Amino acid sequence: MPVEHLAIIMDGNGRWATERNLSRSDGHRAGAKQIAKVVEAAREFGIKYLTVYAFSTENWKRPADEVRVLMELISEFSSNSLSDMLKNGVRLRTIGRTDDLPLISRTALKQAIKATENNRDFTITVALSYGGRAELIDGMNKMLKERKSDEPLTEAEFRNYLYAPDIPDPDLLIRTGGEMRISNFLLWQLSYSELYVTPVYWPDFGREELKKALDSFAARDRRFGGLNDKK
Ligand code: FPP
Repeated sequence: MPVEHLAIIMDGNGRWATERNLSRSDGHRAGAKQIAKVVEAAREFGIKYLTVYAFSTENWKRPADEVRVLMELISEFSSNSLSDMLKNGVRLRTIGRTDDLPLISRTALKQAIKATENNRDFTITVALSYGGRAELIDGMNKMLKERKSDEPLTEAEFRNYLYAPDIPDPDLLIRTGGEMRISNFLLWQLSYSELYVTPVYWPDFGREELKKALDSFAARDRRFGGLNDKK
């Protein structure tokens, strides 16, 4: 089975920078540049959906200067990547409590989301002010407001209250930077995803590293809790 949806925890920008005597913000700048390269490689490898963890609900606790740089990078990414996204049929979406973002970032994102909304070749979803628990709570609150039925709730119905119900669950989660954690990312959607952790820091993660992850995925035996037909 090919990877249709790839999710990535882009970790290690800070350590990448520190090892080079650069500031953490320089690490994030290098990390932001890497996103376009990975989108290009992912398209080449036939992936249809990419979801990247750019800013978590917990990241607001970081020093104000670092948060400011990350917000600037998000605005720059939305504006600077727009022509490439339009040229390549890439659709931009976001998930998360994006109302918490500064107006300038929200405006840039909104523009790029609108301009690319009819593109269907590839979808990049950027998780911003995102938390897996927050998504479940937001979904439950929405459901409590909107749901009329008193039938028992099913997984399929609840899924409709998540931020992006139309996007299939990730086949593969890659975490760069070596930590063996999910860090509150896509808690519902990652239930049956394969995990791939690499010590490579995000600013060094490019086409070759993605290829290694996809080769590792191709060798996995996905059973979704059942038994494999081949055995
Ligand atoms: C983790 O590195 C990375 C982040 C918290 C943010 C990821 C952001 C980007 C790649 C750039 C901005 C995003 C967009 C969409 C333009 P870390 O700081 O936790 O690294 P460390 O674990 O080495 O300290």
